[in-house]
Amino acid sequence: MRALVGEVFPDQSLNIIGRAEVDSVGIAKGRIQNFRQASDRLGELIERAESGAGVTIDSVYLALAGAHLEGASHPAVTRVRDPSNRVSPRDLQRVDREAKSKELAAGRVYIHFIRNSYRLDGRRVEDPVGMTAEEVGVTYWLLHGGEKAVSEHIHLVNSQSLKVADVIVSSVASACMVASAEEKRAGCLTVDIGAGTTDYALYEHGSIVRTGSIPVGGGHLTNDLTVGLRVLPDAAEELKCERGAAVTEPGDRGETVHLYGDLTIGDKAIDLSSLNRILEVRLEELFELIRDECGESRLREGSSGALLTGGTSRLAKVDTLAERVLGIPARVASHPDWVAEELQGPESSTVLGVLHYALEAEADRQAAQARRRGPGRVGRFSRFLRSS
Ligand SMILES: Nc1ncnc2c1ncn2[C@@H]1O[C@H](COP(=O)(O)OP(=O)(O)OP(=O)(O)O)[C@@H](O)[C@H]1O
Ligand SMILES: [Mg+2]
Repeated sequence: MRALVGEVFPDQSLNIIGRAEVDSVGIAKGRIQNFRQASDRLGELIERAESGAGVTIDSVYLALAGAHLEGASHPAVTRVRDPSNRVSPRDLQRVDREAKSKELAAGRVYIHFIRNSYRLDGRRVEDPVGMTAEEVGVTYWLLHGGEKAVSEHIHLVNSQSLKVADVIVSSVASACMVASAEEKRAGCLTVDIGAGTTDYALYEHGSIVRTGSIPVGGGHLTNDLTVGLRVLPDAAEELKCERGAAVTEPGDRGETVHLYGDLTIGDKAIDLSSLNRILEVRLEELFELIRDECGESRLREGSSGALLTGGTSRLAKVDTLAERVLGIPARVASHPDWVAEELQGPESSTVLGVLHYALEAEADRQAAQARRRGPGRVGRFSRFLRSS
């Protein structure tokens, strides 16, 4: 569990004033397994975040992940009402409403409605108001989750006397942190490879057109090494991080890594090419799944590149492998310059993204309030965030 506390200044600049991290207990794959343990751990995290930031936290923005999340593309088209075919804001409201009105199956709740570009008589247009056309169309990427899974997380936060200001899907959060506005416009794929899951988001023409979550991450790599090389989990984790690479090279053959065990296990020589081959097979499968879900030709035609983040993007040559399987240039992403040094690591993308989202939402809310009340105080506020 990770938390960031931030404040926003009247000029909309962002300042991170507190951070905390604790090991997750009682939560696995986006579902709560042991409520009491998870709640205690959350309490600990909040206390640390509060004392670090010197503020009291009363509400949070929450990142959600897990297999219960699903997305669907939903298009809508409407006729322009004006007799001279000039598009008005009302036409857009109507088409937006229709695209967002897809009914969900019982037990599902909407989390995000992500608008993709408008089309006027089939032609993509950024802002159609005032232009002429017979028909205006729009497509939304609708993200929904399991009602039980979402409400159990909200309940968990509430159990620590905190309110949930909003929830955000992890893939959306980390994507907005690693892709620049230009990359989003040009089209790109962001891939956050964590410990238990890999979350991706596909941008086209500036907006997210698809998201997905695959239950494979660095933990599976470590586990594969444990089984394949017959080593203990700690040794497997160390081998992966210190010596592992996502592709096997001809030079690996014949090279060995020595593992110094204790008296019972003894020392062991491990073949580097076997080590890397195990990592390569699992990651190849992961990138193939992402490629197939997004569509290979769609990726090649619509994306300028893939941006990798999450702890597992630290693995050597993961970008080379991603490039080979996805068929588009790939690189390990970095965060914007304003992010402090200690949060530059790829593990922080999600929690930073949630903070960014929260502060934008909060700035919008304050601006709306200020408009209603006239010029007044734009106060300091803080938000607590969690990423699974
Ligand atoms: N140098 C490295 N090489 C390979 N893997 C690494 C390296 N450093 C960290 N990792 C892996 O990164 C993973 C943790 O990444 P991260 O912190 O992004 O996951 P998480 O957000 O906690 O998990 P999830 O997103 O699945 O909930 C672990 O599996 C860890 O082994
Ligand atoms: Mg993560």
